[in-house]
Amino acid sequence: MKTPKSKPLATPALPPEIDPAQSVELLKELHILTRDGKLNQDSRRKLKQVYHLFQFIEKLLGELPASAQGLTLADHGAGKSYLGFIVYDLFFKALGAGHIYGIETRPELVAKSQELAARLGFERMSFLNLSVAESTQSDLLPARIDVVTALHACDTATDDAIAFGLQKNARAMVLVPCCQAEVAACLRQNKALNGTKTPLAELWRHPLHTREIGSQLTNVLRCLYLEAWGYQVTVTELVGWEHSMKNELIIAKYTGHKKRAAAERLASLLAEFGLGSLLTTRFQLPQDSVAA
Ligand SMILES: C[S@@+](CC[C@H](N)C(=O)[O-])C[C@H]1O[C@@H](n2cnc3c(N)ncnc32)[C@H](O)[C@@H]1O
Repeated sequence: MKTPKSKPLATPALPPEIDPAQSVELLKELHILTRDGKLNQDSRRKLKQVYHLFQFIEKLLGELPASAQGLTLADHGAGKSYLGFIVYDLFFKALGAGHIYGIETRPELVAKSQELAARLGFERMSFLNLSVAESTQSDLLPARIDVVTALHACDTATDDAIAFGLQKNARAMVLVPCCQAEVAACLRQNKALNGTKTPLAELWRHPLHTREIGSQLTNVLRCLYLEAWGYQVTVTELVGWEHSMKNELIIAKYTGHKKRAAAERLASLLAEFGLGSLLTTRFQLPQDSVAA
């Protein structure tokens, strides 16, 4: 008696959100896809964010001239390195050149990313257990980095990533800031003094407003700072508000045209808000860009 042939099992269709060029193995390793190839609500949200960001990064990378060392990208506050891995898989892998660096302070996340990159054969990825500020001085990174990314890097790590980008002559920076407490703390400190000086101080009199205006002001200052140093800046949304409360996306492209007006505006805003000290600590402007 003939035994019936068993039908080969059909490969389950992938969720439509997945880029067909994407390694399914990678997505499973990152726990974006479950073992049986499904997306849960949380990973759908994460993937949507990363893919949206990837569209911008891919365009920026595509516009850069080729160089002998290949393109370089540093991702700050990398966490589990979803972004770095996905950019490598969709862009760097096929190039056969270039390098991605993930910078992260949590050693266990760095070790996991190192293991995963080795397992997947992603040879041109390095994960460094450094703070963003330390990475600026580290000789584990090259003198020049083409693209700097920082996705929800905590507090002032975004500012450190901007400083890193300036030092490394980055040709583009892609930043999704997290909450930043430094400016709000300065506003709080000078509250009594400023309250009598300007009616604008009403904007940060109540503690909740101090935090909100601090956060808003921080991103405005960052944009002016980048313009003052020769970047063209675009501010847009990462994803809809329903997905994340921190979804401001700042894209800065180097043009070399240092905007004096931006430097002057930045200095005036800092003075107006009683934050002049940040001019020497956080927002050092190009020489001669602001009248003494
Ligand atoms: C909210 S998570 C974001 C992770 C990842 N970029 C993402 O969006 O999935 C922020 C990460 O930044 C790391 N981090 C915070 N401050 C840092 C610093 N100064 N230097 C490097 N990493 C930092 C934290 O350990 C954490 O893993």
